[in-house]
Amino acid sequence: MQRIYLDNAATSYPKAPGLGDAVKHFIDDVGDNVNRSGYDVMAADEMVFETRDMLAELFNFPNPENVVFTLNITYGLNFLLKGVLQPGDHVIVSSMEHNAVMRPLMQLANQGVELSRVSCDDEGKIDVESLRQHIKQSTKMVIVTHASNVSGTILPVEQIGAVCEEKGLLFVVDTAQTAGVLEIDFERIKADALAFTGHKGLLGPQGIGGFLISQDLAGNMDALVSGGTGSLSEHEDVPPYLPDKFEAGTPNLPGIYGLNRALRYLEEVGLDSIREKESQLATGLLEGLANMEGVRILGPREAQGRMAVVSADFVGYDNAQVAYFLHKHHGIRTRCGLHCAPSAHKTLGTFPQGTVRFSPGHFNTKEDMEKTLSAVRQALKELDSILR
Ligand SMILES: Cc1ncc(COP(=O)(O)O)c(C=O)c1O
Repeated sequence: MQRIYLDNAATSYPKAPGLGDAVKHFIDDVGDNVNRSGYDVMAADEMVFETRDMLAELFNFPNPENVVFTLNITYGLNFLLKGVLQPGDHVIVSSMEHNAVMRPLMQLANQGVELSRVSCDDEGKIDVESLRQHIKQSTKMVIVTHASNVSGTILPVEQIGAVCEEKGLLFVVDTAQTAGVLEIDFERIKADALAFTGHKGLLGPQGIGGFLISQDLAGNMDALVSGGTGSLSEHEDVPPYLPDKFEAGTPNLPGIYGLNRALRYLEEVGLDSIREKESQLATGLLEGLANMEGVRILGPREAQGRMAVVSADFVGYDNAQVAYFLHKHHGIRTRCGLHCAPSAHKTLGTFPQGTVRFSPGHFNTKEDMEKTLSAVRQALKELDSILR
């Protein structure tokens, strides 16, 4: 059976062309560690720095040394939250956050950090004025997702960043669902830090992500993990400068080689055309699903204010059965459930049943969307005949 992969919000598939070769090249032909060997030409070092440069360019970020690699965005967000917030500090989030933000914050709340959640509306949109009303004397940080992994809703990070700048608050953005698709300008959104993951829209491999951090915040943030860096080895203290301060231990070099290849591909294709294509795919799905009876679509109806993350609640059916039918009979891979974002589902009214999430990506086609819609129609008919 043909496979139609519609789970790009979880991880993109397929990956950028040539990625597997790039990873293999490192393993088979390069092999050097970084910062640690005394050889003349250190190909891996150059590749790592080139990849920092490419990420800095992608996010219009002025300082490539402050691009820090971690395992994924979850680790990056943990660094940024646990390395900065202290008991007594107040932090503001949206009600659309992924557990990669909420779980570290809940741990911190148990240690005396105070948390406010700005309620978004039933399309996942945030009112920046209501965010403003949560600010108080002890507020230190605002952290939001750039787009919801449940409804695809894009949050107005430029406006939120402007409020943070005006009020002197740290602003941190989770770009898991937008990096590699939307243009993200670190300076324009006035972020203090931005976390990214390599394996979703960036079309890179799993196991590589990180964060970009301003010099000011880096100076005030503790290193959550410490160890050997291959630098200042005569000292047992953590190096004070970046990226070494936050990059202890041997990095995921195969992952960085793969990410480098993926970033090259994104550059060749251009984010505008990636965004345009994904929006067209989302529009096809949104229109088709909207015409079906008993299907509730989450998030904005138009592709403009959202990513190609289309969640549907098949009211009157068991969403898991719909997803199972699509997979079993049509090879369509969606993701059913709460998508690690219970707060978003509570906001959107789909807790605890969750939704079936269709997330087309760069390599899907219009035909995939047509087949999917026809498969959904068949699934509902079939379930009708069983249930009613
Ligand atoms: C909005 C958001 N933040 C964070 C994450 C966590 O990503 P990773 O598993 O790559 O750390 C995800 C992944 O689903 C996400 O959608």
